[in-house]
Amino acid sequence: MGVFDQSIKTFLAPIKEYLDDESVSEVLINGPTEIWVERKGKLEQVSAAFHDETSLQAAVRNIAQFVKRTIDSENPTLDARLPDGSRIHAVLPPSARKGTTVAIRKFAKAAELSFEKLISFNSISKDGADFLTICVGLAKNIVVSGGTGSGKTTFLNLLGGLLPHDERLMVVEDASELQIVAPHVVCFETKAANHEGKGALTIRDLVRSAMRLRPDRIIVGEVRGPEALDLITVMNTGHGGSMGTTHANTPTDALVRLETLAMMSDTTIPLAALRRQIAGAIHLVVQAKRLHDGSRKISHISEVIGVDENGKYETKDIFKFVQTGIAPDGKILGEMRPCGNIPTFFDEIKVNGFDFAIERFGTPAVAKTISSAPTAQPSAAPAAAKNPFAHLNAAQMQQVQAAAQKAGMTLQQYHQHLVKQKQAAQAKKKAAGEAA
Ligand SMILES: Nc1ncnc2c1ncn2[C@@H]1O[C@H](COP(=O)(O)OP(=O)(O)OP(=O)(O)O)[C@@H](O)[C@H]1O
Ligand SMILES: [Mg+2]
Repeated sequence: MGVFDQSIKTFLAPIKEYLDDESVSEVLINGPTEIWVERKGKLEQVSAAFHDETSLQAAVRNIAQFVKRTIDSENPTLDARLPDGSRIHAVLPPSARKGTTVAIRKFAKAAELSFEKLISFNSISKDGADFLTICVGLAKNIVVSGGTGSGKTTFLNLLGGLLPHDERLMVVEDASELQIVAPHVVCFETKAANHEGKGALTIRDLVRSAMRLRPDRIIVGEVRGPEALDLITVMNTGHGGSMGTTHANTPTDALVRLETLAMMSDTTIPLAALRRQIAGAIHLVVQAKRLHDGSRKISHISEVIGVDENGKYETKDIFKFVQTGIAPDGKILGEMRPCGNIPTFFDEIKVNGFDFAIERFGTPAVAKTISSAPTAQPSAAPAAAKNPFAHLNAAQMQQVQAAAQKAGMTLQQYHQHLVKQKQAAQAKKKAAGEAA
C-alpha cells in the first residue's frame, strides 16, 4: 500500500467502511457529523462522523497535499482523485455553511465496466450498444450528455475502451477520472495557478497542446467552458471519433449548451456559422439519465442531422428508452427501443463491413416509404431505366436502396415486388369485404 493510500485510510477512517463497500457509489459529507451515502441511486444518512471539523479539514488538506493542490482560505475548493480512482470535491467553511463539505464519487472499476453489464442493468439495449460500437469504429464524433451524476463519465469510459488499438488517444480533463483501457492513451489534467496567480493550465491550453501531439482522437472529459469551441474545432479538423461529455437534459439541449459555451470563448464566428460547425462536427448525442427510481439509463441515442431554415438544430432519435409502466416497488419498467429512423450514414456501416441489419433500427420508416410507393401496373416495363422511386426524398431513397440491396433486388425489381405486395393486400381486403 502506498503512502498516499496509508494516509488516506488514516485520515478518512470514519468513512473507510463506505469507501470499501462496493454497493456504495457516493459518500457525501456535510460537515463533520452529517454523512450520507448513495446505494443503487438512492441516498441514505449513516451514523458515521468525524471527531470534529478540524479532523475533517485535516483529511481534506492531506488529500490536497498529495495531489499537489492547495485547499485553504484563499483556495477554498478542491478537485482531486483518490488512489482507487474515486473523485473528490471539497468546499471549506465559511462558504460551506455546515462545515467542510465533501463528495466522494466512486466509480465501478474500469475492468468491471462493460456493455454487457449495462445491458444486464437494462441501461441500454443490445441493439443500442452494438450500434454505438460500430459508430466508434466508424470514427463518429460523439457527445455524451446528461444531468449531474447521470452516468456520463462512466459511459464515456466504455466508449473510449472501444477505440481501435492502433490509434493514439489524448484525454484532457479537469481532474483526472476517466480510466480508458486502451494501449495508447495519453492523459492531461488541468493545473491551478500558483499563489502568484501564475502557471495555470486550462482545458483550452491542454486541448491545443493535444492537437499538436499527433492525436488520432481527442477526448475532453467534461466540456463546461469555452473549450467547447476547441473540441468542435478538433472534431471538424480531421480528428474523427473525438468525444466529450456535457451537462444537458436532451440531445438538442446538448448542442445548444455547447453553442453557449463556445460563445464564451473570444470567437468572432457569426452565430449561424457556429451552429453549422457544431451540427457538422457532432454526429451523435448519447443522452444519459438518472430516473426517479435511482436507476441510470441511456435515454436517447440521437443522430445530429443539421440546422433547419430557422436556425434550429435538427436531431433524429435512433434508439430511445420507452417507459412502459411502474412496478409496485416503484421500479421504472421499460426498455430501449429503435425509433424507426435509419441513420444517414447507414451505407457507411455496410460498406465498411459492419454487420447490422437494417431491421434493427425498427421498421416504421421503411414501412411508411413502402406504403407511399405508387401503384403501377405489373405489365409496366420491368427494366425501365427510369427510377420508379423518383418521387421520394433523399433520406427515403436511401432507405429504399438499403432495403432493395438487402433483398438482393434492383430498384426496378424491388418496386415490382412492392407493387405485387400492395395488390395482394388490396385483393385480400376486398375479398374479406365481400365475404362480410
Ligand atoms: N448504468 C449505470 N448503472 C448503475 N450505476 C451507474 C451507471 N452509470 C453510472 N453509474 C454510477 O453512477 C455514478 C455516477 O456516474 P458518473 O460519474 O459516470 O456520472 P456523471 O454524469 O459523469 O456525473 P457528473 O455530472 O457528476 O460528472 C457512479 O458511481 C457510477 O459508477
Ligand atoms: Mg462526470
